[in-house]
Amino acid sequence: MSGEVDALYLYLCGVTAFFTLLIYALVIYFVIRYRRRNPSEIPRPIEGSTKLETLWSVIPLLIAMTIFVWGAKVYFAQYRPAQNALEVYVVGKQWMWKFQHATGQREINELHVPVGQRVKLIMTTEDVIHDVFIPAFRIKVDVVPGKYTTEWFNATKPGRYNFFCAEYCGMNHSGMRGYIEVMEPTAYENWLSGNAAASPAAAGRGLFESLGCVSCHGANAEGGRGPALMGVYGSKVVLNDGQSVVADEGYVRESILNPQAKIVTGFGPIMPSFQGQISEEQLLQLVAYVKSLSTAKPETPTEKPPPPSAKPSAQPKSSPSASPKK
Ligand code: CUA
Repeated sequence: MSGEVDALYLYLCGVTAFFTLLIYALVIYFVIRYRRRNPSEIPRPIEGSTKLETLWSVIPLLIAMTIFVWGAKVYFAQYRPAQNALEVYVVGKQWMWKFQHATGQREINELHVPVGQRVKLIMTTEDVIHDVFIPAFRIKVDVVPGKYTTEWFNATKPGRYNFFCAEYCGMNHSGMRGYIEVMEPTAYENWLSGNAAASPAAAGRGLFESLGCVSCHGANAEGGRGPALMGVYGSKVVLNDGQSVVADEGYVRESILNPQAKIVTGFGPIMPSFQGQISEEQLLQLVAYVKSLSTAKPETPTEKPPPPSAKPSAQPKSSPSASPKK
């Protein structure tokens, strides 16, 4: 991909250089060729040439279109979310980057990935806008409060590649940087097993229970106060206003923070908002859990979810055990 970007950039430079030289050369040539040869000389009037004018409109148009088509092709390849990618959650904050792998490993300001595999970053921020810029991979995407953005790459050579925050975000903006360690697959497996941790989906399941979500959204929730979430992620959801949306990360996030925004048809607007009660990382864990309910081999709870009466205090590892009364 970086090769494609470079080729396009070289092409642009080439076209620019060619026309710059052509125009300068012609200016010099015409200055000499048509200079005034004696003081009494009166130039012949020129009527213009339709043929010539058409030519120098059509040729640049065709050249511009090659840039447009090529550029669009590269852009779409780069900014369409990748399929079958290794997913890594990214949270930016002043002034550091937090990464969490789907298998649970956490890292700060460094990211280990295997070579030759697509890696998709699902990114958000706890505070202001940041931007993940990885020059060697030719990618750069803003990280925006309140939503998820993504970017992906497929590293082709093992090694260490710098990345930077590319959006001015305060005093230590320039220090908000790190590196991506691209490893051979076996070395990567070793690294993973040496840093094992609870996966975000598993942590999300803990939250799902401790926050009481399970009492309305559980597989066997009584009365069906909220839609069951099995298989929801990635599917089309019909809303009570007749519209339908695809349940992606952004939708799940919105439904947790602003449940009234999109209500699934057949359900009432009774869910409380969790805005301000959970951190961005916890939010990502909940999203990861909902996603895991839709994958082919879901990370299904082996034990039954606790009954609706389960108290938040049942889960040790949740900080905001404070409120949600559902
Ligand atoms: Cu974060 Cu600049």
